[in-house]
Amino acid sequence: MLLARNVCAALGGRAVLHDVDFEARPGQITAIVGPNGSGKTTLLRRLTGDLAGAGAICLEGERLADLPPRLLAQRRAVLPQATAVGFPFTLREVVAMGHQAGASAADPGVVEAALAEVDLLPRIDGFFHDLSGGEQARGHLARVRAQVWAPLREGRPAWLFVDEPVAALDIGHQLQVMAVLRRFADAGGGVVAVMHDLNLTAMHAEAMVLMEAGRVSAAGKPAEVMTAPLLSRAYRCQLCINTAPAKGVWLLPQAASLGQGLGAAQ
Ligand SMILES: Nc1ncnc2c1ncn2[C@@H]1O[C@H](COP(=O)(O)OP(=O)(O)O)[C@@H](O)[C@H]1O
Ligand SMILES: [Mg+2]
Repeated sequence: MLLARNVCAALGGRAVLHDVDFEARPGQITAIVGPNGSGKTTLLRRLTGDLAGAGAICLEGERLADLPPRLLAQRRAVLPQATAVGFPFTLREVVAMGHQAGASAADPGVVEAALAEVDLLPRIDGFFHDLSGGEQARGHLARVRAQVWAPLREGRPAWLFVDEPVAALDIGHQLQVMAVLRRFADAGGGVVAVMHDLNLTAMHAEAMVLMEAGRVSAAGKPAEVMTAPLLSRAYRCQLCINTAPAKGVWLLPQAASLGQGLGAAQ
């Protein structure tokens, strides 16, 4: 269980997160959604221990602040919104670095398996910087998966924190990446994902947190958070919510009022 209370953050001398309470359960995908600049990335960085600030954060009963870096790297892996690879590493080397960061001993086959999961095994010995933007995004996901390869380690859930993991991907690979996160959660791991695609979120997340101006404005199951009044207010545009016949909640922007809403927001 991930439990955070009264989490604050200040960036550039400005308060960006205000007393955020947050919880996520292993076995589930918990999505953080909200408009640009609402504090999603900052909250994720606080929850992963990558950014300091006021508030208490506990991962599986342990205070994040008390975990030494090596242990933290075994307990959770983080896919940031953007990561640059500055040297001419191969994909194999990049994913192996992730695996080494989290494993106590190298587990043969993990690098290959992590790349196969995101459809990149044929590119394993190519240079990372020769991959397309979307391929690089999937390569980085393979790297963090290889860091916490086992969703359960000695009975303790591992955690994946991913910031906009499907933003650069085509729809087929979006579904593939969501399936990677789904399998990790189904096998007992915890997943916290910053998401922009509300349809994908409704399809895959068990829990959802809506951020607005550095605060949580709603939290619950997708069907509880994805209501027209809540989303229309947060995203400053008129939205209608359709329920898909089989499963989940589907959202379509109403084009006529979208322009109006965005204009009003400026
Ligand atoms: N280094 C920084 N210095 C000052 N303000 C920042 C910095 N990084 C982010 N911010 C501001 O913090 C707010 C939240 O940013 P962020 O968490 O990245 O939003 P989101 O991920 O929801 O788009 C934004 O208003 C952003 O401009
Ligand atoms: Mg962000």
